[in-house]
Amino acid sequence: MSDKNFYITTPIYYVNDVPHIGHAYTTIACDVMSRYKRLKGYDVFFLTGTDEHGQKIQQSAEKQGITPQALVDKIHLNFKDLWRVLNISNNDFIRTTEERHIKTVQAVFKKLMDQGDIYKGTYQGYYCVPCETYVPESSMGENKTCPDCGRPLTIMTEESYFFKCSKYVDKLIKYYEENLSGVMPKIRYNEIMSFLKSGVRDQSVSRTSLKWGIPVPGDEKHVIYVWFDALINYISALGWPDDGQGKFKKFWPDAYHMVGKDIIRFHCVTWPLMLLALGIDLPKSIIAHGWWTFNGEKMSKSKGNVIDPFKMAEEYGLDAFRYFLLREVPFGNDGDFSELALVGRINSDLANDLGNLLNRTLQMIESYRGGVVPSGAVNSELKDFAAKTLEAVDLNLNKFAFDEALKSIWAFISRANKFIDETEPWKLAKDAAQADKLDCVLLSLYEALRFIALLIAPFMPDTADKMLAQLGVESLGGYDAFEFGKGADNKINKAEVLFPRIDIKEWQKNYEAKREELRKRMESLNLENKDIKDVEVKDAPAENVIEHEAEIGIDDFKTVEMRVAKIIKAEEIKKSKKLYKLEVDLGYETRTVCSGIKAFFTTEELDGKRVILVCNLKPAKLCGIESNGMILAASVKKDGVSEQLTLVVPEADIPLGSRVS
Ligand code: ME8
Ligand code: MG
Repeated sequence: MSDKNFYITTPIYYVNDVPHIGHAYTTIACDVMSRYKRLKGYDVFFLTGTDEHGQKIQQSAEKQGITPQALVDKIHLNFKDLWRVLNISNNDFIRTTEERHIKTVQAVFKKLMDQGDIYKGTYQGYYCVPCETYVPESSMGENKTCPDCGRPLTIMTEESYFFKCSKYVDKLIKYYEENLSGVMPKIRYNEIMSFLKSGVRDQSVSRTSLKWGIPVPGDEKHVIYVWFDALINYISALGWPDDGQGKFKKFWPDAYHMVGKDIIRFHCVTWPLMLLALGIDLPKSIIAHGWWTFNGEKMSKSKGNVIDPFKMAEEYGLDAFRYFLLREVPFGNDGDFSELALVGRINSDLANDLGNLLNRTLQMIESYRGGVVPSGAVNSELKDFAAKTLEAVDLNLNKFAFDEALKSIWAFISRANKFIDETEPWKLAKDAAQADKLDCVLLSLYEALRFIALLIAPFMPDTADKMLAQLGVESLGGYDAFEFGKGADNKINKAEVLFPRIDIKEWQKNYEAKREELRKRMESLNLENKDIKDVEVKDAPAENVIEHEAEIGIDDFKTVEMRVAKIIKAEEIKKSKKLYKLEVDLGYETRTVCSGIKAFFTTEELDGKRVILVCNLKPAKLCGIESNGMILAASVKKDGVSEQLTLVVPEADIPLGSRVS
């Protein structure tokens, strides 16, 4: 067993959310820390997962006519897919519906009940269903709305179990007074301390109003409150309390929880109070980062300004995206996402600084030394600079100051680029008497690059691999194994461009076109919504505001030509996560239609299905494909995005092309 262990966790994300850059950010940050610690020789356990219980899931599943389990089994894959695409090196993925988690949660509940720290009482309060949380009157928004999501609150009264957390508050205050890095950064620490000192009431930890949760042991009419359930994932994944594999014993003493600032009370107050009651040591630190906005606004699906991490990685390259997120904003601060800033960083930091250094160096080794790295002395200034850089990276990453760590790496890259300009190897190459000096320059530059590949590996793993391949280095090795000068006599491979420069003018043009297309698509989406409003509102949940359309005459209605059609072929559109390309048969002709129903059906499920097609809709280009019509579907929307969707189909067999009226 290594004595250097490191345990890091992301929040477990609500499974029903569409993953966006906020989720990507936390998870990438944890991934960087994990990869970094592994390179430092630590045994790392990196945990992420999904939060799968609660009212929202229950409601969605009911509407879709499937079990909540079937629903979460399907949609938790959105997160698993994203982590694969973002090259996340998590060691485990916990789902709160897994048996191992349920066992631990029940064990926690039972232990606290047995020792008198959980008791039965009555709870009444204002509850926000979408956020799964009671809202104290002091923080309610205007007209009794949720301060987080702005939606109306519901009064709830229920018998409930309470966690006697007030009992442990003083102990927690004392703990934080002695452990200043228990909550990071300082601003969050202060916030938590003043909250704790203002007094904490016992917390309700069970619900009778819903079924989809973990039953309270011995009182199955209650399910355990979703936050109480969720927080326990951090120890259930380690096997507490049975700990058959010794994971809890090994990793818990070195636990770090990374979270967004939105959920620090749960993590820095509730969770530590639970741990104190359980007699479990507190995590080393809870690190809270800031909030990403887009053009200064909160990202929301209804505004259509949610940044899709899948798309960003696809469009700009995964490593550039990873780099940008961590470099652009000091960890802990809020940040505003701008694609232009991303392009700027790609061109200057990645293509220009890093890319050029690699290219110039490899080309010189190729042309002056036949592709073999010369041996001999190294430049001591560059070597010292490298050692200092590693110290700075260590220092900063241990403070979770990712941006500072990257800045120090880039300072080294700049130094190396300047070293080329100062030593002018092209001049040395012309003079045989300067051969030793040229050897020294080339070897030092090569070593600088080998070192840089190692330094950036946690942030940009693929780029590091590509660099090493070009440098002719087999494997990374750890930081401790790195020796400046050891790369002599290596045989390099062909130089290739790591980050192609983006032509800003061209980009700007495309970007504007893209925004325009998006705007139009949103517009046409709104039109589509209108067309299916009638069917849509029938089943709409109470929280949705029902927007009725202006009255129309029958003649207006008749202008919409709808006919029975059959889907004869459903195909993926590579570029789109939402759309399918459908061939539909109207009996008298076949057409191509793009339909935003990918999230809800497999292509097999659609093949052969009879549907209703709006035939006289103006053709529209979607993802480069001309769509001629629209198929009718009923859906439940949240924030303008469909959460559930079903096709409107003819009830009995009728010839294709029959008019719907
Ligand atoms: O809160 N900027 O899950 P969640 C930065 N299930 N980070 C953001 C962000 C943004 N705009 N949006 C989301 C939950 N995040 C609970 C957690 S843990 C026991 C239970 C990130 O899906 C950030 O890490 O709402 C935030 O804390 C988390 O996603 C919330 O994810
Ligand atoms: Mg949230």
